[in-house]
Parts: sequence; C-alpha cells; structure tokens
Amino acid sequence: MEVLIFPDAQSLARKSADLVESQIKTFPDSVIGLATGSTPLGLYEELIRRHNEHDLSFAGVKTFNLDEYVGIPANHPQSYRTFMDDNLFSKINIESSNTQVPDGMADNPLDVGPAYEKMIEEAGGIDLQVLGVGTDGHIGFNEPTSSLGSITRVKTLTKQTIEDNSRFFKPDEFQPKLAITMGIKTILDARRILLLAHGENKAEAVKDMIEGPLSAMCPASALQLHQRTTILIDETAASKLRLKGYYKFVGEMQDELVRKHRPSDWISR
Ligand code: GLP
Repeated sequence: MEVLIFPDAQSLARKSADLVESQIKTFPDSVIGLATGSTPLGLYEELIRRHNEHDLSFAGVKTFNLDEYVGIPANHPQSYRTFMDDNLFSKINIESSNTQVPDGMADNPLDVGPAYEKMIEEAGGIDLQVLGVGTDGHIGFNEPTSSLGSITRVKTLTKQTIEDNSRFFKPDEFQPKLAITMGIKTILDARRILLLAHGENKAEAVKDMIEGPLSAMCPASALQLHQRTTILIDETAASKLRLKGYYKFVGEMQDELVRKHRPSDWISR
C-alpha cells in the first residue's frame, strides 16, 4: 500500500486527478471504476475542469460504478446514476452507453450481480478503480463482515451507513436499506486502486484500513492484499495513523526514485 498524505482536500483532489488523467492519456480506452459520495467530488470537479480547459477527452473511456441503491429508479434524485450524471457524466465527453451503474430497479436484483461481473470482464477488466471509504470501513457497499472473496451482489446496509447517508434524503422520504455493490474480490481484481479519504470522521476507518489487521470487520483492510493500491488522505483523516511520519518519509524517497527511474510507474497496463 502506498499512503500519500496531503495538507487538505483540494491538493488531494488535484493529485488524484493527475493520476486518473495520466491513466486516460496513456490508455484512451481505459476502463475506470467510479465511486459516489462526497469524497470523490473534488476529483470529478478537477477532471471536468481539465476536460474544459485542457481538452482531456473521455471519448474512449468506459466506466463502471461501484454500487447503486435497490428500490429507487435511475432518475430518482438520490440514485447513484443521477449522482454520476449530475456530477460528472453530463459535464464531460463520455458516451452514456459507456457508463455503467448497477440497475437498482431490476425485476430480480439477485440477477444483477453476475451480469455486472460479466460486463466488467467483457470490457477487459477495470484498469483503475476509484474508492471512498465509509466511516465503518466499507468500500462500495461492502459492509463489515462482507466476504473478502465476494463479487457483485445485493447487500443490506448497516444502521451506521443508513444514518450517514440519511442526510441526502428528506425526513419522510423512502431511504433504501439494500444496495447492489461490486464485491471485495471485484474491487481487488482492478489493476490499480486509488482510495480517497478526507476529514476527521474517516480517521478511525483509515487507521483500521492501513494499520489494522486484515479483517472482514474492516472491509477496506482487504486493500492490504492488493499490489497496486494508493491511499490518498488529508492530514485529518491521517490523524490516527501510528506510522504517519514513516509514510511521509516513504513518499519523499519514492518521489525521488520514481522521478529518476520510472516516471510512469503507476500506470496500470
Ligand atoms: C457510500 C458509498 C461509498 C462511499 C461512502 C462514503 O456508502 N457507497 O462508495 O465511499 O458512501 O461517502 P462519503 O464520501 O460521502 O463520505
């Protein structure tokens, strides 16, 4: 795991955009896994800016979103499809048919997972997966005790996740308790992973993910098994890390090494 610590959310967003941009410029037909939530918004704003000001093109890019709520239609204001359309897809030159979000309104939600896995496989697998992390350590909607070998399927949300996400729903509005999410194995199969986290409320989950034992109780800790994962966090999210100073030192040393020997080392094909 590579851990990069930034002074604030803005510099973190810029660095994550640098990494996504290099991926897309090197391989214009890249397959990118995307996340929702407030965390990746800075990254998406930065990608939109680079699209507008520097002609960053998404014409050949395919995307697969991590997850979707079960039981609300795609055009619902709180669906993850709407989130992606509003915050990224409608503002860049990506073909709508190249963007996939699991179907939360399928007649049989249990059929969605295997079909989604097949689509990812047919696209050639995910080159670069963007992730956030829940306060309980979930990635996608893989809640604590999710199998570390899981693939895309229906999951029941924890009380904590329902509460964390209730801010987006009106008090009397139906809030889904089920979601379809890529599994932990699906995520680990991505060639390259970027996990973004900022804010003090993520500090505990970030500590468990990086320094805790590998455990289904913290699904994000499964990333310890992945060879090419970069964790981008701000100082507040990093505040509970025991080896924080070491990660900064590693960063300086790596910068020097990579600059010298392999400037595009992180690219994922
Ligand atoms: C949801 C999403 C996750 C996301 C998490 C954190 O539960 N399913 O993919 O990482 O929220 O959200 P936020 O970035 O708003 O803290």
